[in-house]
Amino acid sequence: MAMADNFIPVGAPVHRRVMSRLETALAARRNVLEIIPALAYRQPIVSGEMLMRWHMLADPAGYRRVMSDNLANYPKSEIMRRMLRPAIGDSLFNADGAEWRWQRRAVTPVFTHRNVVALAPAMTATAERASARLIDAIMTGGRQAEMVGEMLTATFDVICDVALSGREHFDANAFGAAITRYFQTAGRASLLDFLGVPQWFPRPGEFLAGASVRTMHDMVANAIEARRREQPGTGAADDLLDHMLAAEDPETGHRMSADELVFNMQFFIVAGHETTALALAWALYLLANSPADQKKAHEEARTRLGSRAATAADLDAMPFITQVLEESMRLYPPVGLLARTVVAEDELCGRTVKPGDILFLPIWALHRHEMWWERPELFEPARFDPAIRRDKYQYLPFGAGPRVCVGANFAMMQAGIILSTLLARFRFTPAGPGPRPIMSMTVRPDPGVLLQVEKTE
Ligand code: HEM
Repeated sequence: MAMADNFIPVGAPVHRRVMSRLETALAARRNVLEIIPALAYRQPIVSGEMLMRWHMLADPAGYRRVMSDNLANYPKSEIMRRMLRPAIGDSLFNADGAEWRWQRRAVTPVFTHRNVVALAPAMTATAERASARLIDAIMTGGRQAEMVGEMLTATFDVICDVALSGREHFDANAFGAAITRYFQTAGRASLLDFLGVPQWFPRPGEFLAGASVRTMHDMVANAIEARRREQPGTGAADDLLDHMLAAEDPETGHRMSADELVFNMQFFIVAGHETTALALAWALYLLANSPADQKKAHEEARTRLGSRAATAADLDAMPFITQVLEESMRLYPPVGLLARTVVAEDELCGRTVKPGDILFLPIWALHRHEMWWERPELFEPARFDPAIRRDKYQYLPFGAGPRVCVGANFAMMQAGIILSTLLARFRFTPAGPGPRPIMSMTVRPDPGVLLQVEKTE
């Protein structure tokens, strides 16, 4: 058990007094997690006023209302949509209303369990390459590896294979560099939004992000074009791009335009690898500091896999590794905070919310809330033993309801295959000071997860 390891995973800085508008704006630019007040970890809902009234919800019944029962009343907040729009337009993640509905109907079948299982061999091959890279790291001295970088390389490898069938039309390094530039610029909450500068006033990040967004779009558009030339109208689908080219709304037969396709593929490529890599890096940080749990996970993986890399068929036979991933995403949900706008008056946890109010959904605080979790600050994978029942809206790394993450199966499969393969072969121990969680768009370990890596036999 983790408790025996006597390790308390790193948390976020919590401000106990009310911050001014400027302090909040500066905190949000530094680390979005800092805007979550101490009360949000103890109460179902916290409200306040900056320019507009805002609420922070950390109650499972409240999430059920916002994400399912009264979904139409809580569209995505314009501030968040605006941050993402240059990169992903009004594609599935960013769209609302009818524009969202038809895209969701078209894209859902792309991610059926069957389709995702068909993509698993690319994940197994990637796990093999990730382990070869770690062996190189051990051999070339140092015996240390920075696991965020390693995991980003691994999951990007998967998405290049399954989204764009390899790299012949696609320079993965140039694309990776453009993503990093984008996250460093537009990915930061804008000070101007918090200070109430009108929406038509251009934000500096948008100028800086422009060039990286254009690079990414041109590359994705070229890869799509190359695919269309290679397989004109064959309808044969064997990877994500083929499925997306064939996707249509089952009710109307509507297909995606070239731009919609680029925006959606762009989102899959960025979101599909960044979030999963962070989940993996945090899991390795936790296990490196919890030797007893790591030993248990290693034994489970070794018994099932021996010296081969994991496949889709192995995952059900390694339940503890799934629990480790789930508990890692409880403590460090890659998407730590979402925001919605209130359309019509409603009641959440006994509080009236009014049209135009901002509603924050701090998944981070929901997952560490003292009303819903025992010893919330500790790493205890056994909480996710399937025999233990809990409110399904208490644990939401992938969101919930009609807008639940469409790639959740894909993410869990890729993470399970990579993590179990590495745990079967390597032992990880901390090397250097631990990371701090910093959220801009996603919750990243800063400055990284530096570990000592040894081959296990
Ligand atoms: C560990 C990995 C991942 C995490 C933690 C994650 C998390 C989330 C969350 C929390 C949402 C809901 C957002 C909201 O309600 O505002 C979401 C939506 C979405 N995710 Fe993921 N995601 C992951 C991986 C992926 C992957 C691999 C893909 C695709 C390849 C993907 C595609 C999407 C899409 C398209 C949506 C929007 C769905 C809609 O609005 O209908 N995600 N994700």
